[in-house]
Amino acid sequence: MKAVQATAHANIALAKYWGKANATNNLPAVPSLSLTLEGLRTTTRVFFDSSARCDEVYLDAAPVEGRPLERVVALLDQVRALAQMQTRAVVESRNEFPTAAGLASSASGFAALALAATHAAGLHLPRSTISSIARRASASAARSLWGGYVALPALGDCAEPIAATEHLPLYMLVVLTTRRQKKISSTEGMALTASTSPYYRAWTESAPLVFEEIRCAILDRDVERLGAAAEHSALAMHASMLAARPALRYFSPATLSVIDRVYELRSSGLASFVTMDAGPNVKVLTTPEHANQVEQALRELPEAVEVIRCSGGPDAYIAGDA
Ligand code: DP6
Repeated sequence: MKAVQATAHANIALAKYWGKANATNNLPAVPSLSLTLEGLRTTTRVFFDSSARCDEVYLDAAPVEGRPLERVVALLDQVRALAQMQTRAVVESRNEFPTAAGLASSASGFAALALAATHAAGLHLPRSTISSIARRASASAARSLWGGYVALPALGDCAEPIAATEHLPLYMLVVLTTRRQKKISSTEGMALTASTSPYYRAWTESAPLVFEEIRCAILDRDVERLGAAAEHSALAMHASMLAARPALRYFSPATLSVIDRVYELRSSGLASFVTMDAGPNVKVLTTPEHANQVEQALRELPEAVEVIRCSGGPDAYIAGDA
């Protein structure tokens, strides 16, 4: 069996996924829609090794253990079941992010792993099936199989591309307010929100409408409407988290300073809209026309440890036999 290497890019949701309809199968409770990002990528090499006694996984050359290893093994088990084989694998994954920490890499990681592992097992599957394999490991990873704007329906088995990057070329400015890793995973945070937040139901009921608004705004190339709805999706998701017990609060004082600055920039006529995930970093959606000015203003903030400018990224791809 030959080793195969695949590359996938991170994505940032404009319509957020938060909550599971079925935790065992990892089916999302709400529809989500993301933009795949150029520049933030993971390259993963998989080799099914008949002499290996267990799966071996390395991330940036360090051995992976515990829960992260279990998640990788579970994805490899899906692939082995489809290929009707038992062979263990050696997995080597590299995050090519401009910064070592502070950004979620699970989406690009599991997408690259699903693509590399299926090919390394000799399976020739439709991209939608590979997206489904990635989705079971981490739902946001299902979206990283495609470039541009990608949707994952509520209860959806796999993601589906909505529009190419060129349809509506936008930039995402990733503003790092810290390089520290998050303390609570999305999976745990979702479970806590669903079981304790009185606003979780309101979130799951309203999310499909916001998703539809975002989808239509992308198709209509309506940046104002897209930005406003994406900002609302992120803040509504965080409102449901804040009402959990104990509260799930990802906002730091630095987060709020960045958001305030984005609001000022918007008042001054620059296209700039905030989105946030399960961490204190802020992502700012802007247009090619305004990107330089918005980026410059954000770089001047003392709270911004680093600003990474990303355009829309490509489909995940096989990076060649390795
Ligand atoms: C806030 O995909 O990491 O980034 O399916 O449990 O692995 P699991 O969750 P994950 O959640 C991502 C949550 C989010 C929003 C989003 O990307 O849609």
